[in-house]
Amino acid sequence: MKMVHSNFLFLLLLPLCFARKIDFEECGGTVKSVDVEPCSSEPCEIPKGSAAIISVHCVSNVNSEKLRLSVWADLAGIELPYPGMKRDACKGKNLTCPITHNQDLHYTQKFEVKKFFPNVQTKARFNLKTNDDQDKDICCFRAPVKVVNAKE
Ligand SMILES: *[C@@H]1O[C@H](CO)[C@@H](O)[C@H](O)[C@H]1NC(C)=O
Repeated sequence: MKMVHSNFLFLLLLPLCFARKIDFEECGGTVKSVDVEPCSSEPCEIPKGSAAIISVHCVSNVNSEKLRLSVWADLAGIELPYPGMKRDACKGKNLTCPITHNQDLHYTQKFEVKKFFPNVQTKARFNLKTNDDQDKDICCFRAPVKVVNAKE
């Protein structure tokens, strides 16, 4: 019985070892925390051909029916849109639309690093916005990311 108990505890704690609350810069709205998994040290190193899961806690500053997440990468001072982002952030990100003002939002986003990406350290900007003609920032942050070679 005791064995079962400690194994169970170990399994519960295991994912926490590879996730990390990271430092970020706010660029709109109220962002409470950003977690990246896996990330063993900052800046987070993401091997090519793998993906990190970004978990964001923020507080909504609007009522909104529709949401959009745009992700950008800064390459030598030029911000480029991150490829492969779906326009509709109401689906597949743990968000339930519509959202209301002052609501706590917890969204998750897979951040894929393709095999052909260069080895760079870049700043990624994640911007959750209203998906309407107002195009208002709900929560925006910037954080450094390092693309590294996959381990053999
Ligand atoms: C999903 O959203 C709910 C409600 O906001 C939150 O309690 C939960 O922690 C979120 N899950 C993840 C994996 O972010």
